[in-house]
Amino acid sequence: MTPADAKKRIADLRAQVAHHNELYYRHAQPEIADCDYDVLVQELRDFEKQFPQFASKDSPSIRVGDDRLEGFVQYRHRQLMQSLDNTYSEEELRAFHQRLVKLFEREDLDYVVEPKIDGLAVSVTYEKGQLIRAVTRGNGETGDDTTANARTIYALPLQLKSTTAHPAPEAMEIRGEIYLTTAEFQRINKEREEEGIALYANPRNLAAGTIKQLDSREVAKRKLEIVFYGIGFCEPAMAGSQSEFHQLVKTWGLPTVEKYWPVRGIDEVWSAVSELDQLRHGFSYGTDGAVVKLDSFAQQRTAGRTSKAPRWAIAYKFVPQRAETQIKAITVQVGRTGVLTPVAELDPVILSGTTISRVMLHNREEIARKNICIGDYVFVEKAGEIIPVVINVNKSRRTPACQVYEFPIKCPFCNTPVVQFNGEVAIRCPSPNCPTQVRRRLGHFVSKAALHIDGLGSAMIDEMVEKGWVKAIPDLFRLRLRREELLARGKNVEKSTDNLLDAIDKAKTVELWRVIHGLSIPHVGTAASKDLAAHFGGLEALAGAKLDDFFREKKSVITGIGGRMGKVIVEFFSEPRNRELVTELLQMSVRPQAPAKKAAGYSTVFAGKTFVLTGTLPSLTREEATGKIEALGGKVSDIVSKKTNFVLAGGGAGSKLDKAREFGVPVIDETEFARWLNEK
Ligand code: IVH
Repeated sequence: MTPADAKKRIADLRAQVAHHNELYYRHAQPEIADCDYDVLVQELRDFEKQFPQFASKDSPSIRVGDDRLEGFVQYRHRQLMQSLDNTYSEEELRAFHQRLVKLFEREDLDYVVEPKIDGLAVSVTYEKGQLIRAVTRGNGETGDDTTANARTIYALPLQLKSTTAHPAPEAMEIRGEIYLTTAEFQRINKEREEEGIALYANPRNLAAGTIKQLDSREVAKRKLEIVFYGIGFCEPAMAGSQSEFHQLVKTWGLPTVEKYWPVRGIDEVWSAVSELDQLRHGFSYGTDGAVVKLDSFAQQRTAGRTSKAPRWAIAYKFVPQRAETQIKAITVQVGRTGVLTPVAELDPVILSGTTISRVMLHNREEIARKNICIGDYVFVEKAGEIIPVVINVNKSRRTPACQVYEFPIKCPFCNTPVVQFNGEVAIRCPSPNCPTQVRRRLGHFVSKAALHIDGLGSAMIDEMVEKGWVKAIPDLFRLRLRREELLARGKNVEKSTDNLLDAIDKAKTVELWRVIHGLSIPHVGTAASKDLAAHFGGLEALAGAKLDDFFREKKSVITGIGGRMGKVIVEFFSEPRNRELVTELLQMSVRPQAPAKKAAGYSTVFAGKTFVLTGTLPSLTREEATGKIEALGGKVSDIVSKKTNFVLAGGGAGSKLDKAREFGVPVIDETEFARWLNEK
């Protein structure tokens, strides 16, 4: 390659890497898989090494990405926040060790091997044991202040435990990773899918998108997690090694990695990395590699750093399991709100030990974006090690026999012409009588996410729909009249039938939000259902709401419920069928429990919520804080339980704070409380 060609290629690669950095760090919406990005960076590095005359201080190969966004206050880290060099090869991992062997003139170097958690880096400042702020990495020097959002993370203590043996430092910036568990990721994406809004590709993107939300109450609805793995600034200096660090942070009550390996020499490093590769599939979160760190802090200082990363650590990344297979057909599923989801039917292929024969393609745009045709050979990967996704098409194997997929213009289950609402990516079957939708709606109504009626699986719903016993939701409450027919279904069904009928009766008094969620109103997920229940207090009030009740003077009336959702709700209940559904439910004695009644100065944050106060607040007395909560429809209790919504904590808070952590109850301080009061 001539220098002129190399110069062009370097410029091109720099532009590509910068583009992907922008998408990944700022928008949490990457277009390519992490390992493909790593290949681009490696290629750029190789060219820059080969043609040093084109080196640049601004090259993305030697600068960390930048996650800072408008709308956040920036904060300067007291100690630079760097990234990590990474490799996919054992040989390079051994070369990393050899460089250190040369530097320290000894083979028996002590390392710590840790999981590399797939989330986003954060620096949390504690002063005198109190949480002061949480800042994203930003460009390494300054990051976005996301303290209000980070405070909603249950596992993040507002106050460190400080003991005589292990006192909390005067001041420290401690580094860690904010992440989402795979289960929480699936819960949120499932809700988004049903609401017809774009899905997050993986838990990392969703965690990054969440911490950058401008409304902390939205953040609190998603269960972010945090784990700490490093120290930035610390006064007085803390531990002398990474393994001591792990012990110490635990004593302060901070969450740390679930397992780490203190090892000696590179062979032990490699065994630990291999063991982690086995274990990580059982972790509740995504782990995309192992981080190998020199254990001694003194040795770390000697090893130093480059502009982007320390020389004393390296990330060994696991190659994601990928398989190539052919798309035999594309079929379509219909969800309970009518959303049509295309599914690729694959030539079955084994990926990470399981056979994959179907992969969701999510929506028409996704098929177009990835340029997927029927008959194409595609690469599939397991996102977050759980859900298989199509990464891309192997274009070199495309033949003229491959067919462009035509998205159906009619519902494949009821033949009704499909529709696409403004601003939605989803395509829907608008027919309320679509048999597949009816089954899905019934299934959702009785599911854990709604009324939670045990004993009514999808097979039984199918059977009851086929027999004509259940045509719509209210028929479920009429099943007692069909007890004889239910008993005639087989031998030994008396007990299970009676249990089911009892469960249905019991469900008549579930919490109101469960019934609202169970109605399958487009766009209305769990969080919105809770806000609606708190605001309207009853099904009739919700069904009779006007647009004005949601959106007035260009502003949302109900926090968490945007104008568009309000419009959808009004439209939903403008259909006589849906109003009748509410009337019938009431006739069948369905009496869902409303949260605590609305107060004059209504607020979705406070209404119906239970607060526990602990410690001394900087400016409010206990009575004043209680008065404010109660005036806005909230309750104050003395005991922290699983049902507590928030703990309002001040200085000197003790066992209630521990209980809150144990039960995963969000803890807020007076600043956050004041913000909620202002925004009520
Ligand atoms: S140490 C200066 N340890 O991976 C060294 N980072 O790809 C700082 N990460 O920016 C990082 N797990 O966000 C370290 N056990 C771990 C990690 C970890 C995940 C993230 C971190 C870092 C990125 C680099």
